[in-house]
Amino acid sequence: MTDADESPATADDAAGVETRHKDVCIVTGSSSGIGQATAARFLAEDWVVYATARDEADVADLADAGCRTAELDVTDGEQVEAVVDRVIDEQGQVDCVVNNAGFAQFGPLEDVTTESVERQFDVNAFGPHRLARAVLPHMREACDGTIVNVSSVVGELSLPGSGAYAGSKAAVESMSDALRAEVEEFGVDVVVVAPGPVDSEFYDRADDELASTAQRSGAYEDIYELYDDAASMGGFGPASIGPTVVADAIVNAASATDPAPRYPVGPVAKYAGLAQFVPKRVRDRLFSLARRLFA
Ligand SMILES: NC(=O)c1ccc[n+]([C@@H]2O[C@H](COP(=O)([O-])OP(=O)(O)OC[C@H]3O[C@@H](n4cnc5c(N)ncnc54)[C@H](OP(=O)(O)O)[C@@H]3O)[C@@H](O)[C@H]2O)c1
Repeated sequence: MTDADESPATADDAAGVETRHKDVCIVTGSSSGIGQATAARFLAEDWVVYATARDEADVADLADAGCRTAELDVTDGEQVEAVVDRVIDEQGQVDCVVNNAGFAQFGPLEDVTTESVERQFDVNAFGPHRLARAVLPHMREACDGTIVNVSSVVGELSLPGSGAYAGSKAAVESMSDALRAEVEEFGVDVVVVAPGPVDSEFYDRADDELASTAQRSGAYEDIYELYDDAASMGGFGPASIGPTVVADAIVNAASATDPAPRYPVGPVAKYAGLAQFVPKRVRDRLFSLARRLFA
């Protein structure tokens, strides 16, 4: 990716031995699931990895494995700047940032408070924007770099009971499309990775979030029942993929010289992409049928 400096930086450089400078990445939300698997995968591919988490203790295993670690809450603009500054101080470059940190605020929209929607967007949509603004001056200067934004199948297919979450992911995808065209001329790539259901702590956390924040009006109990049934069946079962499958897609996108704009990952994401060709009125009828059949 980034070319070696002109002045010899190591004994090998001085001796004229060709050395490859390692690529450097920052991964947000590395404490579990996709972020943890992605940090490990980059490390296995010989990248210099900054695995970040809200609590640095949660990435101790990645530190033992060889990652650099840092505390990073993506809603904290000063922390975002401090982490990027540190990476530039220590490595002189940042080749990839993976905006993975995220959570789901489920619930029918009438029952979700505006504060919860703001928090949802603050993490899932404004977080990637903060990171992009912090790394872009360095990537533009290097004429190189990749921003990977982890979205979801619901970024293109909003479902009843997932409006806040789907809205935040649609926002990420829309901003990614604009950003990709804005920074292309500086050699910077912007990629959306959109998985279907993934086996991680995501759904347990979403259940806790829903239980603690939703203001249940009593009008949408059938939608809650659908979510409860899915949770009691262990989420999406065989339709789910492991976090390492998503990690592979992210590392492949970051390593590609000409990455695709969007990578749907897993069978659900690939087939759900077809739903965008179904007229919205037909989709509405299918949702309404599902509510009557399964609730
Ligand atoms: N699991 C799925 O089915 C699925 C499907 C499609 C897309 N995704 C997306 O994939 C990404 C990763 O999800 P996952 O499945 O790996 O879930 P996960 O295991 O729950 O991991 C989520 C990560 O995000 C971090 N996070 C949450 N709020 C944060 C904040 N304010 N600042 C920094 N980190 C924060 C969590 O850190 P803490 O430990 O500090 O809370 C955790 O490391 C998310 O963006 C999610 O929307 C997931």
